[in-house]
Amino acid sequence: MTIEMKVMISTEEIQAKVQELGKKIDAHYANSDKELVLIGLLRGSVIFMADLCRAISKEHELDFMTVSSYAGGTTSSRDVKILKDLDGEIRNKDVLVVEDIIDSGNTLSKVLEILQTRQPNSIELCTLVSKPSRREIELDVKFLGFEVEDKFIVGYGLDYDQKYRHIPFIGEIGL
Ligand code: IMP
Ligand code: MG
Repeated sequence: MTIEMKVMISTEEIQAKVQELGKKIDAHYANSDKELVLIGLLRGSVIFMADLCRAISKEHELDFMTVSSYAGGTTSSRDVKILKDLDGEIRNKDVLVVEDIIDSGNTLSKVLEILQTRQPNSIELCTLVSKPSRREIELDVKFLGFEVEDKFIVGYGLDYDQKYRHIPFIGEIGL
């Protein structure tokens, strides 16, 4: 199947942004003596996480979590189910949650609630892309790559029906 794809954010722009985010993250955690752990939400964050962690000089661990969002009951209220939990402990550590894209913010706000109960030293958010016009819940995103309009995008980890994650740029597809 061929699909029409328009480049929205080029490989070069992404790579430059990742380096910039890495420097900001290093500066932010420079004076903390706590252990730093990057938590990637599978599967979308994998490509971003792989590049981002190599742009951070401070020593850190990587951990991953899979959650699924679903509409609960007959209301539009949402809940998230943990499909794969972290392998390690986060108590007393500096936690940086790494996401591919924030849309409504529902998934991430629930994930933060869950992680907060485990008493980390701090929790911050880093997302490559945000669609602010779609936000239903306010989130304080400390490290942001790009803000985009409400268009469906794929590539650099982002999928459509589990495909196109491997594309090295972010493209807009006509659905
Ligand atoms: P939220 O809970 O609405 O913020 O959901 C965010 C999740 O929706 C992301 O982690 C993606 O999996 C998915 N998503 C939202 N917008 C897009 C898009 O444009 N392309 C691919 N996935 C998207
Ligand atoms: Mg996702």
